[in-house]
Parts: sequence; C-alpha cells; structure tokens
Amino acid sequence: MLTVSRIKNIQGRIAVPGDKSISHRALMLLAISEGRGRIKGFLRGADCLSTAACLRQLGVGFEERGNELIIDGRGLWGLEEPRGVLDVGNSGTTLRLLSGILAGQAFTSVITGDHSIQKRPMDRVAVPLRKMGAAIAGKDGRDLAPLVIQGRGLLGIDYTLPVASAQVKSAILLAGLYAEGETVVREVKPARNHTELMLACLGADIKTEGGKIGLKSSKLQACDIAVPGDLSSAAFFIAPAAAIKGSHLVVEGVGLNPTRTGLIDVLRRMGAAIELENVTERGGELRGDIVVRGRRLHGTVVEGEMVPRLIDEIPILAVAASQAEGITTVRGAEELRVKESDRISALAQELVRLGIDIQELPDGLQIKGPCSLRGAEVQSFGDHRMAMALAAAGLFSPEPVKVQGSECISVSFPGFAQLLAKIVKY
Ligand code: S3P
Repeated sequence: MLTVSRIKNIQGRIAVPGDKSISHRALMLLAISEGRGRIKGFLRGADCLSTAACLRQLGVGFEERGNELIIDGRGLWGLEEPRGVLDVGNSGTTLRLLSGILAGQAFTSVITGDHSIQKRPMDRVAVPLRKMGAAIAGKDGRDLAPLVIQGRGLLGIDYTLPVASAQVKSAILLAGLYAEGETVVREVKPARNHTELMLACLGADIKTEGGKIGLKSSKLQACDIAVPGDLSSAAFFIAPAAAIKGSHLVVEGVGLNPTRTGLIDVLRRMGAAIELENVTERGGELRGDIVVRGRRLHGTVVEGEMVPRLIDEIPILAVAASQAEGITTVRGAEELRVKESDRISALAQELVRLGIDIQELPDGLQIKGPCSLRGAEVQSFGDHRMAMALAAAGLFSPEPVKVQGSECISVSFPGFAQLLAKIVKY
C-alpha cells in the first residue's frame, strides 16, 4: 500500500525510466533483425521484462552490460517454436505486437497473460491477421486470450483501423514483414508511430504519407537504439507540478514524439507554464528536457485527434483537472474502458471517494474544479496508471490517501515512490 498526503510543492531535476512502448519495440524488432543490436535506456519494468521472457522462449539471447541490453538478432526466420505457453503477464503491447510476428512463423504458438489480459479484446488483432492468412483461435471461440496462433504464409492487406490503436497498427506491420506483396494500414486518428520510425531505422521498406502506411516485406539490419525517458511516466510528476503554485520541476531526456505529447499541449491550454529545452532527435524520435512551473490551471475540453495523443495520461489529467478552475471534459475516449482496467469507471469510482466532483460519461469524464480533497483508502484495480494517478491525487489531500494494490506500479515505473519522495517539499 502506498500512502500520500498534501505537500507544499514539487521541486527538483530528475530523469524517469525508459519509454515502455519504445522498449517493447526495440526488443521485438532487434530480435528479428540480422546482427547484434544494443538498447540503451531499456525500461526494466514488468511489462518489458515479459516481452524479453517471451522472446527468450522463442530462442532469442540477451546479455546485460552496464545499462545496455545486447541482443543477438535471429533474423526474420530464426525464431524457434516455443516449448510452453508464452506468458505476457499484464502486457497488452506484448500480446498484440508479438501476435503479428507469430502470425508469420512456420510454427504454432499459444500466448496468454494475467487475469486482466484475458478480459481485453483481441479481435482487433485477430481479425486483420486472419485477413492476412493466419489461423488464430481464442478461448471458447471468442477472440480473448489465450490465443492459439498458427503461423502461415501471409499476404499483404489494405486495412483501415477501426480504432486508433498503435498496438493493432504495429501487429499488422510486423506481420507485413512476413507477407507477400504490400501491406497498407490506414489510420483515421494518428496513434503513436514508434514502430514505423524504428522499422525505417532498421532498413525496412516502409513509407508513411498522411494517414497511410505502406510496408513491403524486408530484412531488418540491427542497430543501436537509445530509449528516451517515458513521458507517460513523467506525466505523474509533470501534471501535479503544473497545478501546484511554487513548483519548479525539470524532467530530463524525455521522449517528445508528437504522437505522444498531447498532455503537454492540453496542460498548456489549461494555463500551465511548460517549456521544452535541449530538444534533439535520434532515430526519428525527439527527446528533451521538460521544465514545469506551477500555476493555477483552468478547465478545458479534450476530444477528437487529441485523445490518442494522451490516452495513457487521462487518469493523471483527471487529477490535475480537479485542481483547475471550471469544468474539464474528456470525450471520445471509450478506449479507456478496455485498458488494464475500465479506467473511466475506475476513475469515477475512486476519485469521488477523494472528494473530486467527477461524472462518468459513456466515452469519457467530466470534472468540476477546483475541489478540496479528503483522505480515503482507494484501489488500483491492478492497473499501474490508476495506482499512480491516485497516489498523485494524495498530494492535494490534507489527510492520507492510501492506495491499495500499488505493487502494479512496477509494470511501467519501477522506483516511482522513491522518485516522488525526492521531489516533494513539505
Ligand atoms: C501502446 C499503445 C496504446 C497505449 C498502451 C501502449 C503501445 O494502446 O494505451 O499503453 O505501446 O503501442 P492501444 O494501441 O490499445 O491504443
């Protein structure tokens, strides 16, 4: 259990662990590349360690040297048939992205994960991968994990994504590496593009034009990958610092890919003072230092194309909105219902306990601020981002906020509580 209560403000200069999305992709793509690759800044969180464990079962070797992870790529066709069931733990990214690779193999795999994973929709990857020629069977005839994936010779498809999902887009592109002919993915609302950028760096024949991504089967050549800090982790410090007067926080070396920076744009729209410094680019990915100074915020509306740009930050945005003057509305975010928990109902249920004026909408939330928070015992629903958002809400409560089930934070942010303790001032 993690206990947090009111602070004076946030002060400090810190770095956060590596980006989860980029760490997963670096592991998987280097595993199927030719030659040796190094990952610097790899996130040693439970989700990415699940990806590493699954790849190990597929015959991939890793070596840790200092803070570098070294991978000997097996090439597109060098993976081995796994002996047992592949277990992704809590990681939807592992299950969905790896499904794309497994669909192209000449063997059958069974892949599953924890209780939460077994409830999450997998039809979104099974349907397009079947169109490409893979045979995929879910539990009880439904597209839920465990999935049995029978690899086959695949054919490229032209597919318009029905949901803005980088996991689905990536699964199709990874399968496309094994497919005959061109694979085209069209997105209506842009989702994070780390897979496309990394594939291009590894030499894949990939082109992006507007919302259309085209990929032709191609070998990948290993290279070194530097993972920036995870903005989705930094968000749990940035949003409270932006909302508490007198705060001054610098988070160094954070990923600033524009498909991920919606939180910064929305907080600025709410009146936040946030500057970006020392911005550089590597492998198509931007990174830089984020400088936040606390101020009184005001409410805003979040909808449309903004939603995928901050989908993982909505829990912490809801907490910041509770301190803003006026109403904040989030719409078009029904995807939140199928994350590690149903984040719309979980947020509405738990934040109300803390005295936040929050209303559940079918596709989002409405928060009326500023609210005076009170202490309570709240639950994470086994969801790392819920646990961290609730802990951050505690920073505004005069009495302790006790977050039950906070162990799940290690999924994406090992060391969260220690880093938080370093920057809070009483
Ligand atoms: C992720 C994509 C998003 C995000 C998740 C990580 C990724 O999910 O919520 O935390 O690494 O591709 P969806 O693809 O389901 O939107």
